[in-house]
Amino acid sequence: MSNSFDVTIIGSGPGGYVCAIKCAQLGLKTAVVEKSPTLGGTCLNVGCIPSKALLHASEVYHEAQHGMADLGVKAQKVSLDLNAMMAHKDATVKANVDGVAFLMKKNGIEVFHGTGRIAEPGKVEVISDGDSAQTIETKNIVIATGSEVAGIPGLDVAFDDQTIVSSDHAIALDNVPKSMVVIGGGVIGLELGSVWSRLGAKVKVVEYLDTILGGMDGSTSKQFQRILKKQGLTFHLKSKVTAVEAFGKKGKVKFEPTDGGEAQTLEADVVLVATGRRPFTTGLGLEDVGVEMERGMVKTDAHWRTNIQGIYAIGDVTSGPMLAHKAEDEGVAVAETIAGQHGHVNYGVIPSVVYTMPEVASVGATEEQLKSDGVDYVSGQFPFTANGRARAMNATEGFVKFLAHKATDKVLGVHIVGFGAGDMIHEAAVLMEFGGSSEDLARTCHAHPTLSEAVKEAALATFAKPLHI
Ligand code: NAI
Repeated sequence: MSNSFDVTIIGSGPGGYVCAIKCAQLGLKTAVVEKSPTLGGTCLNVGCIPSKALLHASEVYHEAQHGMADLGVKAQKVSLDLNAMMAHKDATVKANVDGVAFLMKKNGIEVFHGTGRIAEPGKVEVISDGDSAQTIETKNIVIATGSEVAGIPGLDVAFDDQTIVSSDHAIALDNVPKSMVVIGGGVIGLELGSVWSRLGAKVKVVEYLDTILGGMDGSTSKQFQRILKKQGLTFHLKSKVTAVEAFGKKGKVKFEPTDGGEAQTLEADVVLVATGRRPFTTGLGLEDVGVEMERGMVKTDAHWRTNIQGIYAIGDVTSGPMLAHKAEDEGVAVAETIAGQHGHVNYGVIPSVVYTMPEVASVGATEEQLKSDGVDYVSGQFPFTANGRARAMNATEGFVKFLAHKATDKVLGVHIVGFGAGDMIHEAAVLMEFGGSSEDLARTCHAHPTLSEAVKEAALATFAKPLHI
């Protein structure tokens, strides 16, 4: 087969593989280059998918121990088989990465295993162990190489994958640690901290900011922190980590208050460093080709074009939130752009979800953003304690919060803490995509009894009295 393509995508994560499928569907001859043995990138192999398998399994374990008896279901001697839980996670990953390989075949996409390097515009070299490099001729190149663990700025953290770990290894511990210190109260720290807390670890979170999930709607984040505290997690906010080291089989974390004051040290069986990710561009040869960078990211215009003709970038390697679904949507849009169509991503309506129990989900502006932009807004809120279905399920924690424009009632942001928040948020996302108002949603008939009725009531609360409180 000739090594000549219309599009070559470097990286097969959610951005890359979805882009490849869309390119193939649009009639473009498409290749994918992947350096790892399996397709799917961080999300499928060590990120979203394995962490969700563990989140779900640990929730079931926790529920069997602490929640089921209240519903009249008594289980004798609930015990943990961590190996079986990890096997479930591994099987989930395998099913997903095999699924991507199947989709590549089905769509006639050629997969090259090896490290891709852009030799020049229109030429990608694939270097694999033991083999001489292959060269791909290609009219277009899409960089979809994702991100890697950033570590702690200014600190040289010696990850040993057992005591001092990143998320890559926190999904594969051999034993439940008695204690865990999580550095960073962001999404990864809280999701994986929750997993190990439910399985029995005493989890302490050390966070630089004065809030967890920095950038999230303020009252939503506060309520979520209260819930996590009740679950047994403890928090050291406004705390800057200054040293992380392993001694024997333990880890030591030193941190100091950001306002000044005495440093403290915590010890734990495992230290999870979850202080962010950075774009991955190692070995791509971008400097040699002259691709412009901006704060470590590949710089693109509004159509995902770099400064070099025929080279595009999508997903974590470029600007915007590091979210798999953002990368997927960019993958589709750039494929359409390359095929001469009009690809578009609405960055104002990208939902974000924290897959803890309960989940936290958001779309659009936070209350703090509206305040600082001087937008005249109204807020409506409805608690799950007042929702019949939530009571029936013993899932009454959290609320739905709507933020709408005061004059036009257009919905500007929606924030949910509660069971199933990650699914419910999409009703708000569709509404916002169509420029809808709170009243549009509040007057849409919702099935009873559902958790989604709380979404309807919160929408109603922006302009009228809710009916059930
Ligand atoms: P993050 O950026 O969400 O959170 C990192 C936290 O570490 C921040 O709150 C920061 O203030 C704190 N921090 C940084 N340096 C510190 C220091 N020296 N001492 C104490 N705290 C410090 O990063 P995270 O959680 O590692 O996630 C990386 C990326 O992966 C994010 O962009 C996230 O959106 C994405 N992701 C998304 C998921 C989802 O959508 N459910 C799940 C997992 C990851």
